[in-house]
Amino acid sequence: MNNTLFLDALHCRNHGRPPVWIMRQAGRYMPEYRALRKKFSFKEMIRRPEIAAEVTMMPIEQFGMDAAIIFSDILTIPDALGCPFDFHEGVGPVFEKPLTPSDVAGLSVVNSLDFVGEAIRLVKPLLAVPLLGFCGAPFTVASYMAGGIKQVKKWIFQDPESFHKLLDLITSVSIEYLKMQTEAGVDAFQIFESWANALALPQLREFSFPYIHRIIEAADIPVILFGKGTAGFIPDLVDLRPQAISFDWSCDLAGVRQQVPETIALQGNLDPHVLYGSADVIRSECQKLLEKMRRDRGFIFNLGHGILPDMSPDAVKVLVETVKPLIAPYSRR
Ligand code: CP3
Repeated sequence: MNNTLFLDALHCRNHGRPPVWIMRQAGRYMPEYRALRKKFSFKEMIRRPEIAAEVTMMPIEQFGMDAAIIFSDILTIPDALGCPFDFHEGVGPVFEKPLTPSDVAGLSVVNSLDFVGEAIRLVKPLLAVPLLGFCGAPFTVASYMAGGIKQVKKWIFQDPESFHKLLDLITSVSIEYLKMQTEAGVDAFQIFESWANALALPQLREFSFPYIHRIIEAADIPVILFGKGTAGFIPDLVDLRPQAISFDWSCDLAGVRQQVPETIALQGNLDPHVLYGSADVIRSECQKLLEKMRRDRGFIFNLGHGILPDMSPDAVKVLVETVKPLIAPYSRR
């Protein structure tokens, strides 16, 4: 590995410019991805290691991000548990039969996820930057399995006991998955709690944080925790002891730093919609964030959530090129 900026920042000892990568950086906004996607379904693409490896490389080769993320999905776990689903254009994932409390006792691992390990082994030697593995946080994964937020919130108030059993199972399988990805060669691991904003703090403390904590505790590599809408719960996030916390755009990262010890890195948090702006707008919005986090040794530049399919690759180029020419201590050029 030639470029260690990302790992240096993750360990809060980066003295240079901040590293940059983008959530969902390998995907539909890239014409090369869409061309490949014409030939294969999304599920085929993630199940075929040589294709997953190729797609993982696409944004790195084209834009030069400082970290790669393995091309896969958080819904590989329900797949392993034998819950069939499909992706519907414009709707998202739809489960054939949303899970109900009476289904939980019958769940077990029926499908292997070895294809993810194989993709990691294929892509790792091609990369000069670190590689991230990932999984969904148990509550977010369970939300998809239950058929959506409304159903899952009904479940937690009607039958919390069976919901805890489901979360416990997803957590155990996710820990095995993390270990498998670690053995295959990922350098760090991100947990996506994309639906954290659907829960109030007492529910997060009951149904989200303890399970995330178990995964973090089981990890031998640095873990980044991404949660949507979690800036109001910073002390709880710090208590989970992740190596980094990734925030959405609803908070001021410099203000967040006041509440997060300097041993924990901060990732984020540019509003992805900035990428709809002109090149000048993108540059100036990036500069504002860079100025704010200047001299922070644990800052990783990213979006506050994933890039959207109708965003332009040229916008991504402008973003990456605004961060990369900086030198330490970075400032306006
Ligand atoms: O970041 C990367 O480039 C790595 C790959 C990655 C994908 N999904 C590829 C993908 C990662 C890290 C994810 C995570 C993921 N998947 C999350 C957490 C992040 C977030 O955005 O909150 C969630 C909630 C999912 C579940 C999921 N997968 C949804 C809701 C969808 C459909 C969204 C839509 O816009 O249609 C997916 C499909 C998906 N995952 C695609 C990609 C490239 C699109 C597949 C296609 O080509 O049709």
